[in-house]
Amino acid sequence: MKIVIINGPNLNFLGIREPDIYGTQTLEDIETNIQKYAETQEVSCTFFQSNSEGEIIDRIQQAYQEKVDGIVINPAAYTHYSYAIHDAVKAVSIPTIEVHLSAIHARESFRKESVIAPACMGQISGFGETGYLLAIQALKENLS
Ligand code: DQA
Repeated sequence: MKIVIINGPNLNFLGIREPDIYGTQTLEDIETNIQKYAETQEVSCTFFQSNSEGEIIDRIQQAYQEKVDGIVINPAAYTHYSYAIHDAVKAVSIPTIEVHLSAIHARESFRKESVIAPACMGQISGFGETGYLLAIQALKENLS
């Protein structure tokens, strides 16, 4: 099984950015741990991070060309307003799981709404790095 892990804006600043909320691990640390877990599950992972909406959309469309089996996406702040990312997820029809490091439903009211979740199989929020591992597990169990 082939999946792509997409992280949105400011997630390249993990480790620096609000560590009380997002923890002290860098994105590289998290990707290393995801990679290790994926290997135990015989899942092949590709990683992508961008601070730009268009690049995220291009990467989702590329996943279609690559015949990727699943997408795990943390759209970061785009979660709350990017209809374009919602449309891209719908357009490619690839099973997608939305992940958030923090518990978005327990934070500011603008974070409670995801405009992307309705295009996804499910959403995992509030478990830090573990959320990505749970998403891989969920894709594996629901696709095989
Ligand atoms: C986030 C939550 C978003 O509200 C925020 O804008 C982020 C990170 C998370 O992983 O908890 O950048 O997606």
